[in-house]
Amino acid sequence: MKTFTLNNGLKLPAIGIGTYKAELDAITRAIAAGCKYLDTAAKYGNENVIAQAISSSGLKREEFIIASKLWKSDMGKDNVNSAFNRTLENLRTDYVDVYFIHWPQTGLNVETWRVLEELYSQGKIRALGLSNFLPYHAEEIMRTCKVQPSVAQLEFHAGHTQAFALRYYQERNIVLQAWSPLARGRIFNDELILELSQKYHATPAQISLAFCLAENVMPIPRASSTLERLRENLMSENITLSPEDIMRIENMPPLGWGGEHPDRERVKIS
Ligand SMILES: NC(=O)c1ccc[n+]([C@@H]2O[C@H](COP(=O)([O-])OP(=O)(O)OC[C@H]3O[C@@H](n4cnc5c(N)ncnc54)[C@H](OP(=O)(O)O)[C@@H]3O)[C@@H](O)[C@H]2O)c1
Repeated sequence: MKTFTLNNGLKLPAIGIGTYKAELDAITRAIAAGCKYLDTAAKYGNENVIAQAISSSGLKREEFIIASKLWKSDMGKDNVNSAFNRTLENLRTDYVDVYFIHWPQTGLNVETWRVLEELYSQGKIRALGLSNFLPYHAEEIMRTCKVQPSVAQLEFHAGHTQAFALRYYQERNIVLQAWSPLARGRIFNDELILELSQKYHATPAQISLAFCLAENVMPIPRASSTLERLRENLMSENITLSPEDIMRIENMPPLGWGGEHPDRERVKIS
C-alpha cells in the first residue's frame, strides 16, 4: 500500500477523506470503507461528529490520522491555544496528527506558527501544515521557522494543478495534499478523463485520484454519499497511469477552480 512519509517521519495513507459538509452517516461510511485519514477543520463545525464516528466504529483513536485546521479568526499568539484546546475537546483526543493554519493572514502567520511549534514540541501535534498558502506566503514561515511545515494543502485536480506551488513544496520535501481532487464533480464530463476511464477500466473519479498520486500529491476526496464510491476512491491507488497519459492530463485545458484565492475576494462560480 502506498504511503506518504512526511519530512519528520510520520506516515500518511495514500488517500484521505475530506469531511467538509459531511455528516455523521457519511463519515461512518468512510470509516467502514477503510478510510484511516480524516480531514476536518474547526470551521467545518463537525470535529465532534468525527469523534462520534470514531467512537462508534469500535476502532482505537490511534488507528486514525486526524487532520484539523485553525480558523482565520483564531490566529495570533493570544488566540491559538484556546482554539486548539477547543479542537482537542471536540475531537475527544489529546493530540491532533496534522494541524494546519487554514488560510494565510498577512501579519499573523509567523506569530501563529510560533505557537504551533510550541504545541508540536509538547507532542500535542504530530505534524504541522499550511493550507492555502501560496509559495510567497510559505516563504515567510520557511525563513523563520524552527519546525518546518510537513504538509501543504491546496486546491489541486486535473485541469487545475497549480504547477508552481506544487514544484515549490515538493522541492522542499513538503507533501502536497489536494483539496477538491474531483473538482467537485467538474472532471466527470471532461473528454480526456472519460477517454482514460475507458482505457483503464476505471471511473472518472479514479482517474482523477490516480493522477494526483502520479504527481505524488495526496488526494482527500470528500466522504461520498455512497459506500461504493468511497471504496472506489480508496482503490484508485491501484491504477498506474502511463507517463504519456500523465502528461496529457497535465496539459489538458483548464477545468476551472473553486474561486478561492487567499489574497482576493471570493469569485462566485455558477
Ligand atoms: N483547505 C481548504 O481550504 C479546503 C477547501 C475545500 C475543501 N477542503 C477539503 O477537501 C475535501 C474534498 O474537497 P471537496 O469536498 O471540495 O470536493 P471533491 O472531493 O472534489 O468533490 C466532492 C464531491 O464528489 C462526489 N464524489 C466523491 N467520490 C465520488 C465518486 N467516486 N464518484 C462520483 N462522485 C464522487 C461527492 O458527492 P457524492 O456524495 O454524491 O458522491 C462530493 O459531492 C473537503 O471535504 C475538505 O476536507 C479543504
